[in-house]
Amino acid sequence: MTDPHRLDGQVAIITGAAQGIGKGIALVLAEAGAKIVIGDLQDASGTVDEIQAAGGRSVSMLMDTSKPDDDRSLVDLAVSEYGRLDILVNNAAIDAPSGNVWDLPDEDWERTISVNLSGVFYCSRAALVPMLKAGSGVIVNMSSVSARFATKGMSPAYNASKAGVLGLTAAFAEQVTEKGVRVNAVMPALIESRDFGWSPEERARQIQPYPMGPGTPRDIGEAILYLVSPAARWVSGTTLPITGGVQRGSSVF
Ligand SMILES: NC(=O)c1ccc[n+]([C@@H]2O[C@H](COP(=O)([O-])OP(=O)(O)OC[C@H]3O[C@@H](n4cnc5c(N)ncnc54)[C@H](O)[C@@H]3O)[C@@H](O)[C@H]2O)c1
Repeated sequence: MTDPHRLDGQVAIITGAAQGIGKGIALVLAEAGAKIVIGDLQDASGTVDEIQAAGGRSVSMLMDTSKPDDDRSLVDLAVSEYGRLDILVNNAAIDAPSGNVWDLPDEDWERTISVNLSGVFYCSRAALVPMLKAGSGVIVNMSSVSARFATKGMSPAYNASKAGVLGLTAAFAEQVTEKGVRVNAVMPALIESRDFGWSPEERARQIQPYPMGPGTPRDIGEAILYLVSPAARWVSGTTLPITGGVQRGSSVF
């Protein structure tokens, strides 16, 4: 029997996989057998090299998810390089500078919505061309617990963009699930994807509510592996919070 958690022969695009959570997702999906296509604003050859050193296959290109032509080029790269597209993980996003709603600069608002929300729309729209033609595919959108719970000082543009991603997920799923494409979202809480520049005291304060400590990029990669795999064949239009046991009403959200 075929292992429903394997992705052998499948091709996955992951945006923003030069570092952080995206890199974790890329490594996990590659280990499961997928060929990985990365689009990032910065050079992702480190992730590509790691996948290839482990025996997998991967390519990357420099692109900006907020530019529709770049998203089409990324999809074209997957199809020209590997002949198909099965999976899209819309991971790329920016952390808007902290700010209050009453003085958030226009450019911070516009860039955050443009990358974190429009980028997800443009890239999904481009990926749906080969997916709808094939009558199969899976899209996973990276939201955040910030879609539902705000933190004082965090940019409202970030909260709004991640809430918008949930709306897009619902809308896309409603329109394409019956055509063979599943669409879901994940909402992670704190993932130590990079050095956040916290002092030891600040880090201790940030991670204090987490009964299992903060999450890692691989924790998110493993959850996404489930959602994109045949094991989740009856899962579409849903959102998975991944919070390490922290629940609503705690001091974090
Ligand atoms: N780290 C967390 O605690 C956390 C929690 C919840 C959700 N998230 C979400 O997870 C995702 C990854 O977060 P991370 O912490 O790994 O971030 P990160 O900043 O470490 O990595 C983001 C990657 O996306 C790329 N990128 C940014 N803008 C891009 C664009 N316009 N086009 C192409 N690539 C672009 C960056 O170059 C980078 O490689 C984001 O969507 C983020 O909002 C993170």
